[in-house]
Amino acid sequence: MTNHNWLVTEDGQYTTFGNTDVQAPERVYRLYRFLTDLEDILADESDNSRRIQKITPLVRQLLTSSYWLQMEYDPPSAKTGWSVKFLYREYEFPLTVQMVAWAPGQVSTIHNHGTWGIVAMIGGEEKNRLWRRSPTAEQPHRLEAVDEKVLGPGDIIGFTPGAIHQVQPLGDEPTVSFNLYGVTDYKTRYAYDVEAQTAKLF
Ligand SMILES: [Fe+2]
Repeated sequence: MTNHNWLVTEDGQYTTFGNTDVQAPERVYRLYRFLTDLEDILADESDNSRRIQKITPLVRQLLTSSYWLQMEYDPPSAKTGWSVKFLYREYEFPLTVQMVAWAPGQVSTIHNHGTWGIVAMIGGEEKNRLWRRSPTAEQPHRLEAVDEKVLGPGDIIGFTPGAIHQVQPLGDEPTVSFNLYGVTDYKTRYAYDVEAQTAKLF
């Protein structure tokens, strides 16, 4: 299967970008160098789509060069069906760098992130359903389903802050992904109920 870099925007459209080839660096591309490069890009570039397009090749470089990060996940909890392991934490460090595992049979809420996000699939297959806001006077949180996309290992998907999705692991194996998020604006981060056409902040 050919790998892709996908960018999803708040209209539920997705486009491919960039190159998925990775050149082996002369020296190991370690997590601390990645975090430094990440900070530099975020300081220099304010457009979220362009941030995603600039950061994604570095995520590929990191996960290929520091390949052991791909094993740094916890199995999904038997109770919740998922797990989150932070790869880097520091006092007032505002970004989220984590490994997420989901058990088969789970399905997420329909949500946006209120910040830019990049998810690199490492194991398993995951369906991403994409939605867009379609508000009416009576139903300000009305959504329309736009499309869906199945991601496999080696695919990377980026989301702008208003992009709305729902993820569901496919098959019998847990999905494992590397997830990177910017600084969340909690006033704009919603979980949606499509049946009721409502949304709540989370
Ligand atoms: Fe998400």
